[in-house]
Amino acid sequence: MKELDITELERKFQEKIDNEIRIEPNDWMPDAYRKTLIRQISQHAHSEVVGMLPEGNWITRAPNLRRKAVLLAKVQDEAGHGLYLYSAVETLGADREETIDDLHTGKAKYSSIFNYPTLTWADMGAIGWLVDGAAIMNQVPLCRCSYGPYARAMVRVCKEESFHQRQGFEIMTKLAQGTPEQKAMAQDALNRFWWPALMMFGPNDADSPHTAQSMKWKIKRHTNDELRQQFVDITVPQAEMIGLTVPDPDLKWNAETGHYEFGEINWDEFWQVVSGNGPCNKDRVDARRKAKEDGSWVREAANAYAEKRKARKAS
Ligand code: 3HC
Repeated sequence: MKELDITELERKFQEKIDNEIRIEPNDWMPDAYRKTLIRQISQHAHSEVVGMLPEGNWITRAPNLRRKAVLLAKVQDEAGHGLYLYSAVETLGADREETIDDLHTGKAKYSSIFNYPTLTWADMGAIGWLVDGAAIMNQVPLCRCSYGPYARAMVRVCKEESFHQRQGFEIMTKLAQGTPEQKAMAQDALNRFWWPALMMFGPNDADSPHTAQSMKWKIKRHTNDELRQQFVDITVPQAEMIGLTVPDPDLKWNAETGHYEFGEINWDEFWQVVSGNGPCNKDRVDARRKAKEDGSWVREAANAYAEKRKARKAS
């Protein structure tokens, strides 16, 4: 295709974006737009599926039947979110098996937060409250993402995330208002998950290689720092309401700006975890690889059945 044609196509494409016209799978799109969506949506899908592991670890140890049922429902929801997102990434021409293999080979990223261990039941509360709370902050704007299938997947996901966040905050509230030991357990979980939750929003805007372009293409509607700030502003009062203390000595309300000021994130820790050296990275990827191996008989049986049906139809 001639240089001029591409430039004209890119101009028309950006015009559609600027006019809030959704981009659909069969529309022309710049290779770089397709590539960054495959990157982000596949890593989002991996995060959903890997995110099942820290919580799945506590289903058999929930303190009562109600808590077990709620946690089971949440973990099942995450599996569904992963499937929506793997389907969305396929609409961009990505192969499902290759996408999943990228996770298993360590080629693809998933959210750093899931590389931290879940040591007590209070961690189930902290994850629902903070991790799903952060996910909602980030996923609500994605409901207005310029790419149609991603935006539509997010609408369904966000409805379920609200339940995830509420059930987590309920666990933290119960513990914080329980015995001194229970309150200490909730505070310990907040201490361990607060900073990794802030890291979920990605590096500072100045250090983000993708944010500027993703904002121009309206994949992102807000920058990493904007969403992180929103999360802090909403979550700190929630912690105070249940009598817990956010583990940040630099945290203070700035009445002039109407925002909380907070301390510097440990970006060395962030990049160490992102590059595979977090407390649980190896366990998580090993578990996903084993799940694929353990599930091969299901795929073989389903393929055998599909082949038989095809043969019967053809005869
Ligand atoms: N963990 C791992 N990698 C991260 C990261 C994190 N918390 N934050 C950023 N990165 C990576 C990016 O993927 C990128 O690496 P890459 O080029 O190899 O993909 C690099 O660090 C630079 O970061 P950028 O901010 O420039 O990259 P993005 O523009 O992609 O922004 C993001 C990062 C904000 C995570 C964005 O990708 C996004 O919004 N993704 C969709 C939401 C998502 O994936 N959330 C993860 C949690 S899902 C979840 O919590 C499920 C819930 O149900 C529990």
